[in-house]
Amino acid sequence: MRFEIVTLFPEILETLKVGLLGKAIESGLVTVAAHNPRDYTTDRHRSVDDAPYGGGDGMLMMPGPVIEALEALDATRGGPTHRVLLTPQGARFDQATARRFATLPSLTLICGRYEGFDERIRDEVHEEISLGDFVLLGGEIAALTIVEATARLVPGVLGNAGSAVEESHSAGRLEYPQYTRPAVFRGRAVPEILLSGNHAAIARWRRKESLRRTRTRRPDLFAELQLDKLDRKLIAELDAEAAAEVAADAARDTTHEAANEAAEDTSDATADERSES
Ligand SMILES: C[S@@+](CC[C@H](N)C(=O)[O-])C[C@H]1O[C@@H](n2cnc3c(N)ncnc32)[C@H](O)[C@@H]1O
Repeated sequence: MRFEIVTLFPEILETLKVGLLGKAIESGLVTVAAHNPRDYTTDRHRSVDDAPYGGGDGMLMMPGPVIEALEALDATRGGPTHRVLLTPQGARFDQATARRFATLPSLTLICGRYEGFDERIRDEVHEEISLGDFVLLGGEIAALTIVEATARLVPGVLGNAGSAVEESHSAGRLEYPQYTRPAVFRGRAVPEILLSGNHAAIARWRRKESLRRTRTRRPDLFAELQLDKLDRKLIAELDAEAAAEVAADAARDTTHEAANEAAEDTSDATADERSES
């Protein structure tokens, strides 16, 4: 898969050349190319930004250099690429979007700087994507994130293809707790079932813990889950465990209160005895 990144700071993309993604780039499974709008300027200062009409703080990216960079890259690739504008005003990036992007032969990510884009740049793109509800200095970190999340779904990039299937957000649920060696670390032991070698029991435990974690941490995702018969059974077990815990807490509180009352009675009686003597 080919990623075309339109950026004023191509050096930021160097960080993609490490780890599994670096290997995928070396092997040719993934290609990342930078296109600098500054190369498409016509004035002596190679200007890419200018003040907003109507006044206001900061500068905007001018339409000319960005749109010419896009046209030039489409011309060298022999056709239009899927153009994505990176902006905090876009649809929020998620795993489903990464999956959709990973099916494309190429993806063009357009990074803004300054106070953002001249509005006419928006007319030239297929969609607008945001990394989240916060404002970055530029689109490059968003581009790196999207390249990494998308490229790891390209067949062959991950050593073990199963990693991308059994993980958080792949099926709308969070991943179950995971452990590696040692079996006991500073007194905290790995759940026994994971050492049992019983694969069916382990799979059931993992599914239940994934449901527990999703329900506790992301009730929004949990509400959207398509539950099957086993899921419903596991959720009933979680409910029963939660109810048992509440009952145990209540019993502990009652015992505690009773012990406190008994202690108070004893100290009152001792005080009475002292005052009588
Ligand atoms: C300082 S921001 C401009 C924000 C712009 N004034 C606005 O309110 O929409 C500069 C550039 O950083 C990038 N950027 C900032 N926050 C982003 C986010 N949450 N997701 C994706 N890109 C972002 C965009 O490319 C943006 O054009």
